Amino acid sequence: MADFKWHPDEPPPSIEEHSKAKLTVLRAYLRAYFDRLNVNPSRDEFKLDLIDGFSGGGVFRDENDIMSGTPLIMLEETEGARDRLNRKRAKPLRLDCKYYFIDVEAAHTNHLRKVLDERGYRVDGEKIVIRNSRFEDAADDIIAEVRRRQPRAGRSIFLLDQTGFSLVELTLVARIFRELSAAEVILTFAADALINHLAATPAFITAVAPLQLTSAQIHGLIADKEGGGGRALVQRTLRDHIRTVTGAAYDTPFFIRPRISHRALWFLHLSTHPIARDVMIQRHWDISNTFEHYGHGDFRMLGWDSLKNSETPPLFNFRELDEQRMQKQLLNDMPQKLFSLTSEEPISVDAMRRELANQTAARFSDLDKVVLELFQEKEIDILRPDGKVRSRTLKRLSPLDRIALPATLMLPGFSRRR
Ligand SMILES: C[S@@+](CC[C@H](N)C(=O)[O-])C[C@H]1O[C@@H](n2cnc3c(N)ncnc32)[C@H](O)[C@@H]1O
Repeated sequence: MADFKWHPDEPPPSIEEHSKAKLTVLRAYLRAYFDRLNVNPSRDEFKLDLIDGFSGGGVFRDENDIMSGTPLIMLEETEGARDRLNRKRAKPLRLDCKYYFIDVEAAHTNHLRKVLDERGYRVDGEKIVIRNSRFEDAADDIIAEVRRRQPRAGRSIFLLDQTGFSLVELTLVARIFRELSAAEVILTFAADALINHLAATPAFITAVAPLQLTSAQIHGLIADKEGGGGRALVQRTLRDHIRTVTGAAYDTPFFIRPRISHRALWFLHLSTHPIARDVMIQRHWDISNTFEHYGHGDFRMLGWDSLKNSETPPLFNFRELDEQRMQKQLLNDMPQKLFSLTSEEPISVDAMRRELANQTAARFSDLDKVVLELFQEKEIDILRPDGKVRSRTLKRLSPLDRIALPATLMLPGFSRRR
C-alpha cells in the first residue's frame, strides 16, 4: 500500500481510487451523523469532538483538482451541518466541535497547518489542535480532554486511518470505548495484507501483538485459510476478533479493494450503539452505486470493490434489485433466527435489532418490515409491553413491542407465554 508523503514546499500527493472511496464514506457518514443526532428541534447546543489520529497533510491532488483529506472533511462537514440544520430552525442550534489532528510526521502536520491557514481556519489549540506525535502517545491526553469538555457522554468520533493493520493497538480502542461511552471509532485495517502474511513465525507473532492475537489464534487462522473456509472464514474470524477485543458491540465494515495491489482494505466502523450502526449501514444503501459486498442479504461482509470487471461478479450491490433479494432472503432466514431468539421468552423489537445488526446488510426498517410480514402470516406474535397481542393490521413496530412464538403452536392447555 502506497504511503502518502506531504511537504509544505511540495505539491500534495495524488489520490487513488480506493482512498477516494474511503473519503466518500467518511463524508457521507459525518453528514448523516449530524442530521440524525439533531432531529430534536428544541436542542440548542450539540457538542462533538472529532479526532483524526493519522491525519496526513490535509489535501490530495486528484488529476487537476485539489481534494480535501480527512481533517478538512471533518471541518467542512461541521460547517455544512451548521448551515443545513439551522435553515429551518426557529431556535438556533450551536455546534460546538473540537478537532484534534495528529500525525507522526512533522512535514505532514506542517503541510496541514499551511492548508488550514490558507482556508482561514485558526489553529489556536482551542478548537483546532494539531499535534506532531504518534497517536498512541497523544491518545491519553485527548481522552482526558474529551472527558473534561464532555463529562457525561464524551461524544466523539475517532478516525484511525492507519496504513497496514498493526499500528493501532486494539486495547487502546477498547479504552476509548470504556472511557467515552458515546465514542465511535472508524478504523482502516489492511485485512488482506494480514491474511497474506499469516505465519506462525516469531516475527509475525510480534508484528500482530497490537491486535491481541495469540499464537494459538494465529495457528487457527492459518488452518482456516488453508482449509475449506479459506479467506472468507479468516475474514469473518478477524472481524469477530476485532469486535471482541475492542468491546464494540457493533461493526460495519466497508470492504475496499485497491486496483493496484488487489489487497482488500477494511474501513471498519465500530460503536457501542445500535443507532450509530444503523446510520452507517444506511450510508451503504445511499452510496449504492459504489459499494458492494459479498454474500446474500444475510451477509457477513460489506464491501466496495474496484475490480468491477473481475470474473467474480459482485453478489450484492445495495441497489433496488438487491434490496428485493435481501428481503426475500430475510423472509427465509428470519423465522429460524426468531425461533432461537424467542425460544425461552419473548424478546423486544429493540433487542431483536441489536442481536441481528452485525449479521445483515439490512437496516432496522428492513428487519421490522420482515417481522411485520411474519406477524401477518401468523408465524409469530407481536405483544404490546403489557403482554396483549397486537392487531394483525399493525403497520409499525415500537422498540418496546415484544416478539413471541405464537401461543397456538403449543399443545392445548399449555401456553408458551408466562
Ligand atoms: C493514510 S495516511 C492518512 C491520510 C488521511 N487520513 C486522509 O485520508 O486525508 C496515514 C498517515 O498516518 C501517519 N502515521 C503513521 N504512523 C502514525 C502513528 N503511529 N501516529 C500518528 N500518525 C501516524 C503517516 O505519517 C500518514 O500521514
